[in-house]
Amino acid sequence: MAKILVIHGPNLGLLGERKPEVYGRYTLDDINSELKSLAEQADIEIDFFQSDSEGEIVSKIGQAKGQYNVIIINPAGYTHTSVAIRDAVEAAGIDTIEVHLSNIYSREEFRNKSLIVPVCVGQISGFGKNSYVLAFQAAVEIISSASA
Ligand code: DQA
Repeated sequence: MAKILVIHGPNLGLLGERKPEVYGRYTLDDINSELKSLAEQADIEIDFFQSDSEGEIVSKIGQAKGQYNVIIINPAGYTHTSVAIRDAVEAAGIDTIEVHLSNIYSREEFRNKSLIVPVCVGQISGFGKNSYVLAFQAAVEIISSASA
């Protein structure tokens, strides 16, 4: 069975209470539950991981090598700073989709650059909780075109 790993970066455990005008009122559990039910319908296994620690995210991506078909990652603040997460994604060689709840290009200038997206298949940014749903749909496309 195909497997997707969803990684949520720092401070995303605070969703629902953190800047709801920017990130929405959904909690991380709401997002994960929706993805879980989409995965059940699509007959795909899905795992979730949240960490505030760059090193833990790097390790998780390293452990994912050979275990998952697609990674969906919201690197949160590390998007704009982490060479280590970028290198981990590149080394894992797993098709990876970068997700942001907010539109990182319409916010402060320091958020306009992702160090990670150049080693991803693509990026979905600005659709709130639906950014994850769209990323899930993209992941399903990647999985089905690989098995075709
Ligand atoms: C974010 C955007 C980042 O700039 C920010 O640091 C986050 C969340 C988003 O989902 O919109 O923590 O990744």
